[in-house]
Amino acid sequence: MQIHSSTQPPVSSKSDILLLFFPENLKTCGNLPAAVSIFLREFEKSKQFAGKKGEALWIHRPKGLQAEWLLFFGLGELSKLDAATISARIGQGIKTALSKKRPTLAVGFHGVKLPPVTLVQLAGITAFHASYRFDQYKPEPRLKDERETKITLHAGRVASPLKEVNAIGDAIGYAKNIANQPPNVITPASLAQEAAALGKQFKLAVTIWDEQRLKKEGFGGILAVGGGSHNKPRFIRIDYRGGGRSAPPICIVGKAITFDSGGISIKPSDRMDEMKFDKCGGVAVLGILRAAAALKLKINVTGLIASAENLPSSSAYRPGDLVKNLSGKYIEVLNTDAEGRIVLSDALTYASRLKPRAIVDLATLTGACVVALGNEAAGLMGNDARLLAQLQKAAERSGERLWQLPLYTEFHEKVKSDIGFVKNTAGREGGTCTAATFLSAFVENSIPWAHLDIAGTAWTTKEEPHRAKGATGFGVGVVVEWLRSLK
Ligand code: BES
Ligand code: MN
Ligand code: ZN
Repeated sequence: MQIHSSTQPPVSSKSDILLLFFPENLKTCGNLPAAVSIFLREFEKSKQFAGKKGEALWIHRPKGLQAEWLLFFGLGELSKLDAATISARIGQGIKTALSKKRPTLAVGFHGVKLPPVTLVQLAGITAFHASYRFDQYKPEPRLKDERETKITLHAGRVASPLKEVNAIGDAIGYAKNIANQPPNVITPASLAQEAAALGKQFKLAVTIWDEQRLKKEGFGGILAVGGGSHNKPRFIRIDYRGGGRSAPPICIVGKAITFDSGGISIKPSDRMDEMKFDKCGGVAVLGILRAAAALKLKINVTGLIASAENLPSSSAYRPGDLVKNLSGKYIEVLNTDAEGRIVLSDALTYASRLKPRAIVDLATLTGACVVALGNEAAGLMGNDARLLAQLQKAAERSGERLWQLPLYTEFHEKVKSDIGFVKNTAGREGGTCTAATFLSAFVENSIPWAHLDIAGTAWTTKEEPHRAKGATGFGVGVVVEWLRSLK
C-alpha cells in the first residue's frame, strides 16, 4: 500500500471513496465546505449522524462530489484522548472504508485539533495497520485492487512527512509478516536468513552466530535455552551506520524465541499456539533497523537478536541447571519457562561490551506484565530517567503506549541465587519487575538502558475494529520515533 498526501480540500478528490472524520461536537469543526455542510444539516434534522465514536454513514453518489461513495465517520469526544485512542478511532474509520474494496480512498479530517504534520503521521501509520492482513497462506489470494489501495490524506498544508510515514509503515508491515509466520517456518536459522536478506536489501552488515560459534564464544544462555530443539539457536547482529565513524551505536536488543513451549517446565496446552509470537521482540528489531536504514537516520544503530526454540527433549536444559552465560556468571535455572531473560543475558552482555550510547531491549518477557497492564501498554523499566522520559515522549507521538514500572533495589535481593549469581525466577509477586531486575544484572551500570516488556501488546487474539488479528508490530513505531529524535 502507498500513502499520499494532498494539500487540496478533500471534497475536490476524485477518489472512489471519500472518508470524512468528525468529532462528536460537530459545531467545533469550524467552516465546512458547502457540499459537506448540506449533508450535515440534513443529518442534524434526521439524527442520522452526530459524530459519535464509531458511527458510520455511507452515502452513494453524493450530490456535488466526485467520489462514488462518501463515508462519514464519527470520532466521538476527542478533547481528552491520547494519540493511541485517536489513532485507533481513525484506524476504525479507514478499515470500514477499505471494506468496500475500491482502489482509491481519500481521507479528510474535521475538528481534529492536532498539528497537520502530527495528524498526517498518526493517520498514515494507522492506515498501514488498518489495511494489513496476513493472508499469504489463505486459499484465495487478495484481489490486486485491495492490496494496492491508494490512500490520500488531505490534512491541509503539510511539509510532507509522507516519505517517512511510508518507510515506517512499510517496516511495521514487514515486522508483522515475519512475526505472524508459524513456528515451523520461522526458526532461529530462518529468522537469521531473514536478517541476512534485509541486510542485502538495505545495505546493512549482518553477522550470524551459529551453534558452533555460540559454543566457541561462550553464549551459554542462548545455547542452554535452545538445547532442546533440533532447530538450533542463533545470535544475530545487524549494523546500520548512518552516524560518524567512531560514534558509539545505539543498541536495540530483542528476544526471539521462535516457539516457547516452556521446555521441561512445560506450559498448559491451552493457547500454547500463541507462543509463536514469543519472537516479536527480535522481529521488532528487524523492523527498527529496516526503518532506520530507509529513513537514513544520522546515527549508528546496532540490532542484536537472541533467538532459540524452547522445547522439552532429552537434550533440553532443566530446572536445577546452572548455566554459565557470556559474562562468565552462573544463572540458576528454577523454571525453564523463564527462558527469555536467559537468552537476553547473553545479548545484553554482548551489547554492554560495545560501549553503546544506550541500550533498549524489547521482549515478550512476562505473563505478569499482561496481568498488570492488559493489552493497552508495554511495561517500561530501566536505569536512566532521561532515557525513560525520551521514550515516553516518543510513545505519546507514535500512539504506542508505554507505562513505567519500578526497579527498586529490593528486587535485587529476590533474584540472587544461593549457589550462583542470579536465579531465573523470583516468585509471582512483581514478576515483571523481578524479570527486568534480572536483566539489569547483565547491563553495565554506566550505560543508559531501557527494557520494554511487550508481552501484552505484541499481538492480538481477535480481529479489532482498527487492525487485524495477530502480530501488531509493537515497538517499531515508538522506538523509531525515539531514534528520529536523536542527533
Ligand atoms: N514468553 C513468556 C511470557 C508470556 C506469557 C508472554 C504470556 C505473553 C503471554 C515467558 O517466556 C514466560 O513463560 N514467562 C513466565 C515466567 C515465569 C515462569 C517466571 C511467565 O510469565 O509465566
Ligand atoms: Mn517462557
Ligand atoms: Zn518466552
